[in-house]
Amino acid sequence: MSASTATIHYICTVRSSRAKAVELARAEIAALLRDCDVALPAGGPLSEHRGVCWVDLVEVHARTIEERATRLGYTERIDELIATGPPRKNRPDGPLRWKGSWYERLTVWESDPEEVRLNSPDMRDFALRGEDGRVRPARGYRGDGSSLGPKALPVPDCRLLVNLVFAPEIRSLLDPFAGAGGIVHEASRNGYSVTSMDIEPNVAPGLEGFGAAHQVGDAGAMPFDSASFDAVATELPYAEEQPGTLRRWTNEMLRVLRPGARCAVMCSLAQRDSIAAAASRGGAVVELCEELDRRGTAVAVLVLRR
Ligand SMILES: C[S@@+](CC[C@H](N)C(=O)[O-])C[C@H]1O[C@@H](n2cnc3c(N)ncnc32)[C@H](O)[C@@H]1O
Repeated sequence: MSASTATIHYICTVRSSRAKAVELARAEIAALLRDCDVALPAGGPLSEHRGVCWVDLVEVHARTIEERATRLGYTERIDELIATGPPRKNRPDGPLRWKGSWYERLTVWESDPEEVRLNSPDMRDFALRGEDGRVRPARGYRGDGSSLGPKALPVPDCRLLVNLVFAPEIRSLLDPFAGAGGIVHEASRNGYSVTSMDIEPNVAPGLEGFGAAHQVGDAGAMPFDSASFDAVATELPYAEEQPGTLRRWTNEMLRVLRPGARCAVMCSLAQRDSIAAAASRGGAVVELCEELDRRGTAVAVLVLRR
């Protein structure tokens, strides 16, 4: 076997705050490596622990996983599994056993908690337009506390949504419910050309400050041409439960996507079925539909492909 076609096995540790969301962590890794012939085996060493998953990658893509890992939201560490012999003594940090073989772990990437903290809503510079029309700094803006208004999404969730729509050819990304801008901030950091929308005029200066071309308006009637974006990633206002409104939002998000492109949506569990049904009726494929418990709030994450 030549070096470039040998398979490397990795074990990934899911962020402790998302340890129950292993399926989403797997989906995020699979999406971020979709051009790398990645496989995600159902089992591997430490299967008895919660919050781990496994990745198999041909050696030629080893650099890609190390480079792109810095974008990951739900995974906090990736170790390469290196075949070794049995341990001389039973040490807790010794090699791992899996199906009769032994493996050492070599950490290839680990999330930096300080980097995540510095990019969190609490630490970000933002700007708000007041009712008098004047723009004021609002560092650490997390939302207005209303049920339909902005509510800043944590960094791991923003990264997850941006990564779920990853494809190497993506240049433009739209967040039509941008709020305090977590998704916009992450997508801009990835070098995408980001467009944002929000019905609240006050968040416009903050979103422009994150590099977005921003539109104040209703995501149910977007001012964009059909097929004009490579990706959509967004978090809906959870309080909206009218099926007609959810259908209009879904149809609009799919209309502005170019054919074959993806839309990742975080929504409340109550919104999930209306969105999935509208997407299917509109000819889109529901590629992912996972539930998630966000500190007592039942939400769903969907990936729709136009
Ligand atoms: C859950 S928040 C998004 C929070 C965002 N993900 C963040 O990290 O800050 C939903 C946003 O949708 C906006 N919104 C509500 N109805 C809208 C509509 N019809 N069109 C566009 N934006 C809308 C709200 O003002 C709010 O900012």
